[in-house]
Amino acid sequence: MNAQSNLLSLDINVLAVLAVSLLMSVSAVVLAAFLWWRLRSTRTAPVVTNDPPNLDQACKLLYEFEKNGRAADDVLVNWSPETLRQLLASELPDAQVIVVSNREPYIHNLVDGKVKLLVPASGLVSALEPVTRTCSGTWIAYGGGSADRLTVDDNDRIQVPPDRPSYMLRRVWLKDEELQGYYYGFANDGLWPLCHIAFTRPIFRASDFEMYEAVNQKFADIVVEEARNERPIVLVQDYHFALLPRMIRQRLPEATIITFWHIPWPNSEVFSICPWREKILDGLLGSSIIGFHIQFHCNNFTESVDRFLESRIEREDPSITYRGSTTLVHPYPISIEWPPVGFKNQPNASECRRQIFEKYGFDEDTRLCAGVERLDYTKGIVDRFMALDQFFQKNPDWLGRLVFLQIAAPSRGTLAAYQQLHRQCLDYVDDFNRRYGNDRYKPIILLDEYHNQEDICRVYRAADICVVSSLHDGMNLVAKEFVATRDDEQGVLILSTFAGASRELLDALIVNPYDPSAVSDALLRGLSMPAEEQRDRMRRMREVVRSNNVYRWAGSMLLDAARLRKRSEAYEATEPAARAETASNVVPLMGKKKGALR
Ligand code: F6P
Repeated sequence: MNAQSNLLSLDINVLAVLAVSLLMSVSAVVLAAFLWWRLRSTRTAPVVTNDPPNLDQACKLLYEFEKNGRAADDVLVNWSPETLRQLLASELPDAQVIVVSNREPYIHNLVDGKVKLLVPASGLVSALEPVTRTCSGTWIAYGGGSADRLTVDDNDRIQVPPDRPSYMLRRVWLKDEELQGYYYGFANDGLWPLCHIAFTRPIFRASDFEMYEAVNQKFADIVVEEARNERPIVLVQDYHFALLPRMIRQRLPEATIITFWHIPWPNSEVFSICPWREKILDGLLGSSIIGFHIQFHCNNFTESVDRFLESRIEREDPSITYRGSTTLVHPYPISIEWPPVGFKNQPNASECRRQIFEKYGFDEDTRLCAGVERLDYTKGIVDRFMALDQFFQKNPDWLGRLVFLQIAAPSRGTLAAYQQLHRQCLDYVDDFNRRYGNDRYKPIILLDEYHNQEDICRVYRAADICVVSSLHDGMNLVAKEFVATRDDEQGVLILSTFAGASRELLDALIVNPYDPSAVSDALLRGLSMPAEEQRDRMRRMREVVRSNNVYRWAGSMLLDAARLRKRSEAYEATEPAARAETASNVVPLMGKKKGALR
């Protein structure tokens, strides 16, 4: 009896516990469902707009993006030429946009007595050309073509693009000794190897630096000549013009000067090798904004300033105040136009493949790897051939079935480092083809000549794999162009971890170019990747390039410029006594303390 009643009370307790647990679970589910419903009903769907963001939205958008690596939830802008045009009209009305670069977007050459047009192999040109077209700006550049002087007007100007003129190119003439000292000497024998980790020693000569200063001054004079008013927006491009921002600032104190450094910036210890390091930093800090592709290079630049100049550095909203003026230091990852107009009228992928296979006499079952670059020691061309060597050692069954087509456009050919590289590539390929090839089969085809955009597009579209194995690269637009041409959503990108593009194109096979065995493994992985996986990866990469296109790059910089100009106007309108307060309250981007706004 006792045992029975104990059993009964145990049952009741168990039942009670079960009932309470059930009640709690049901309440939890009901509560969760209620909260989920509330959340859904209060959250607005993101607005996708083709309009440029106004300044408030833009601040939110860009800061969210920079801080969290994604755009704000509520406004997604489809950046396009139209967005950029509207942005200029609404936020920077009447502003004259002046672009300054060494390389010109259109070169006229005299070939067999006829004037021939050439679009140079330059990432800078492919990015800036569509932007300048959109802004109807003025582009100032060195006129290096043999027929350049024949094609300009009396003021050294020419309307371009030739088929649909929409902006003005102002050509600057340089004497041989100027070109030698400024371009080949200080820029490409000195700064280029200094800024790239490629283990090529920089060479610094005082005479080169003098010429660099003189040529920068020549360009500064021409910027002033071309400026229609006191406040143009000047977009200074690259390491050829480190001294130019300060020189322009001295003549046009009200100008908004945005300097974009297209190559990496070294760490401060490496930078200290440059005998004119303080002058370079001082020159650049004449800018209102200095842009790099990635945060890493912004940090290196800021560290260099910290080490060599008396300045105040604001790390939270990154800016540098020096000699009483403040310069923003921001990452703006460069890109290409979208949709990629240059590739628009090209045949589709299977037709490109057919044409390329026919041209080079490949068997139908051949698999094609492609590399496209300037012949430059930073691009890791020989290193990728070494990886291919390992690949064939490990996978001899691929011999006869795999071809590597390498386009290597001649570049800076009078410099010893480039001549050596050219020789090294030719010798390596000769030896390679002797070891692995035969009369009918050459595993590497090296095309060491210039190719136009149409040829390049055909190669991109024909390839199974595109290899971008730069030893060091600011961004690398070949990677983005390859993705842009692959509207068939096929093809594999092998991408160096030391190219800025690897921060965005996460669906590439990311490799260390110094490790031939890793690159060889990536080749095998790429060759055996199922079509479905290629499609998924390519889709995601295309979406990245579509949304982070070059209009976004330019738009972000111009929005920051607009913000600076508006705040500077507000500052000027403030009573002098209240200016210190204004600077600290209204100008968060400019740093928390005083500093002339411009
Ligand atoms: O990568 C730096 C860069 O200036 C690019 O912007 C450009 O694509 C390339 O070098 C071209 O070099 P160059 O003008 O010397 O031929």
